[in-house]
Formats: sequence, structure tokens, C-alpha cells
Amino acid sequence: MRKPDLAFTRRNILGFASGVTFVVGAGVIWRAKQRGVFGSPPNEAFAPWDLWNDPTLKGTPMALVAAGIVASSPHNTQPWALHVADDRIELLADTRRNLGAFDPYLREMHIGLGCAIEQMMLAAGPNGYAVTVAPEAGSLLALQDHTGIAKVATLQLTKLSAPTEADALYDAIPKRHTNRFPYDRAAGLPSSARTLIEDVSDEENVKLFLFDEGDARRRFDEAVVAATEEIVADAEMVEASQRWFRETTSEIVAHRDGLTYDAAGLSTFMTAAAKLVPVSAQTAHEAWLAQTRDRQLPTAPLTGFVAVRDRYDRAQALAAGRVWARMQLVAATLGFAMQPINQPIETVDREKQLGKEARSEARLVALTNAPGWLPTFAFRAGMPTVAAPESPRRSLKDVTS
Ligand SMILES: Cc1cc2nc3c(=O)[nH]c(=O)nc-3n(C[C@H](O)[C@H](O)[C@H](O)COP(=O)(O)O)c2cc1C
Repeated sequence: MRKPDLAFTRRNILGFASGVTFVVGAGVIWRAKQRGVFGSPPNEAFAPWDLWNDPTLKGTPMALVAAGIVASSPHNTQPWALHVADDRIELLADTRRNLGAFDPYLREMHIGLGCAIEQMMLAAGPNGYAVTVAPEAGSLLALQDHTGIAKVATLQLTKLSAPTEADALYDAIPKRHTNRFPYDRAAGLPSSARTLIEDVSDEENVKLFLFDEGDARRRFDEAVVAATEEIVADAEMVEASQRWFRETTSEIVAHRDGLTYDAAGLSTFMTAAAKLVPVSAQTAHEAWLAQTRDRQLPTAPLTGFVAVRDRYDRAQALAAGRVWARMQLVAATLGFAMQPINQPIETVDREKQLGKEARSEARLVALTNAPGWLPTFAFRAGMPTVAAPESPRRSLKDVTS
């Protein structure tokens, strides 16, 4: 008996090829969906952005907490835990949410906690509270245990007879996002921006250093690039950073923290490619170096440092964070963009941790030329070319007790 003809006729080949194309294409689309290539899906991970003035929280201490948890934090680690009572909020550091070799002394963690304090304080008046903050004193160097909870500050609340008028910085809370996209350097900054940034810091232990053009600015950029190169060559730092990268939609939904491709400041094409094809931590961080050197620094009309008297004083780290939070909120009210660019101080910590020659500190001293002031935070500012997206946040339930 004659078998059915399986000869490779043109028709068969075309049919087979289109079948394969369909299967591969469907696979790619399925994978792309899994990895969130088609934009960031609306999900619970972003819901806390709507809570800062939620009517059901209005006039309660929880409204302050809701404003605090959308604050900036290093690598979006959200290192906060909050004990909430009618007359006070205790802010604790969840030191397990540390950045390892990227932040060996929890200095950046404390700056992030300072950001949360500032946003809670801005929310106090409009929710009918007067607030005083009592930070825990002491040195970060004494905080050796990075596996538990450490008290950071108490916010003492007193009921006012009526809520105060909301101010512009409070209203800017949901608009504040870290913008890692290129800026429009030619557009400069709004005329009042520089003065408003400078006025933000009335803390006696915090001072700003700003750089726009000229030799000092060139050396600022060089210091950032050199530090980024050092980090990329340090496998332990790369690994520590990568641990907080959330690559897929399901990771974002599960963790509700960390860095995402959508917020990385990449072009639309690169964002889709990065989501679709996973790359190694090393490759990702080399791309970060190129982005810092070729897109972020050259497009920023203004850069700067927040400096303190003692980089490892816990209260001064919180104060620096409060200043950074206010600066970013000023930017949000005026419509300009800001991004921390902290590599030159991260390498100071790393050299200290490894007992290496303090080359990074020497770079900073040469730049600020101000004895007694130690940069603890670096940033850039400019008019945005792309609006920065929201980053995920853990829920109120997850961070309060
Ligand atoms: C202490 C500290 C250090 C940070 N360092 C950097 C940095 O070097 N580069 C960067 O792009 N973002 C940095 N960030 C921004 C955080 O990654 C960002 O706040 C977080 O991902 C949440 O995103 P959001 O600010 O848009 O809400 C830093 C934030 C803090 C508080």
C-alpha cells in the first residue's frame, strides 16, 4: 500500500514555516507579556501612590505614614517599619533590607529614612497634627547588626484644633519620581529653581554644593564616572545592586520594591529589549556606566552634593535625607527633574569597608574645597525629556504595626 505523500512540496514547506513562525511568534509574545514588555501593567504594587490623601485615612496618623512610604529610598529598598499609635509614630529601620557592599554602613538607608520622615512631617499639618521629631542619636559605625530592626526616630503628634492649609510641597508628594532619563540641558532650569534648592537646607549640619559649568563641573562629572567604573569592576557591589533589580512583572508584583526597567531611564527600544532578553548583572551594570557617562551627566544643567559634618552620624544622615526629599518636591512643584547619582560617595564607603586607600574621599575634598564638610549625597537636575514613571511600593499593611 502506498503511504501518504510526505514529499517536501512548496506548499508543505510554506505551511510548516508559517506554523513555526506562529509558534515562535506566540512564544515571543507570551514571554514579552510575562516580562512586562508592553508597558507596566496596572497592579497593586503601585496602589500606595494613591493613598497620600486618601479620604479614609484623612486626619489619622496613617495619613502621615501613607505620605512617608512613597518617599525615595536607595534602590527602592523601602527600609522602613512603622509602629503607629494615636499620638506618635515610631520609625524603625528594617536593616535586613540593606544594600550590602553598596551601603556597608547603612548610611544611604538612613538618608532614605530621612526622606520618609520629611514626607510624614509635610503631611502632619494638613491632617490636623503638630509634629516634633526626635531622631536616635549615635554613629552608624556602631550599628553593626544588619539582620534586625533598629529604632530610628519618634514622631510625636499633637492634635491641632483644625488642619493647616496644605502647602505646595505636600501636594507634590505623588508627583515626585526619580527621573533617570536624559534631560534637556539647553533648556536650563526654571529661574527660581536654584534659589529654591539652596533655600531648602536650613539644617545647621547640612550644606549644599552646586555645579553647573566650568572646571569644577567637569571634575564632578569625572568623579561620578570614575566611581561608577570602580563599582562596575567590583563584583560584590554589582551583585549587591542586582539583588534589588526586579526584572519581570511577577517579580514586581511579588516584591513591590526594587528597581524596574521602566524607571531605568532607557529608550523605549532598549527598555523592551532589556525586558525581553535577560542580561547578566555585569552587562546590566556596564550599560548603567554608559548611561551615566553618555546620557545622564552630559544632559544635566546642574549637579550637586548634599554635605554633612559627620557622614556616619545617624541624625545627620536623616537630616540629609530630609533635605533631599524637599529638593525633589521643589522640583516636582516647578516641573523639573532630579536624580540621585551617588556613586562617588558609595565608593568612599566601600574603600573604608575594605581598608583601601581613600581615593574617592580625596576626589570629593578636591571638589568641595570646604574643610569640615563631607558630601553624603550627589544628584543632577534638569528639565525632563521623558516623564518618570512610578516605582512600586509595599502596602501600608506590610510596613506598619
Ligand atoms: C540615599 C539614596 C540614594 C540613591 N541613589 C541613587 C543613585 O545613585 N542613582 C539613582 O538612579 N537613584 C538613586 N536613588 C533613588 C532611588 O533609587 C529611588 O528613590 C527609588 O528607586 C524609588 O523611586 P522613586 O524615587 O521614583 O519613588 C537613591 C535614593 C536614596 C534615598
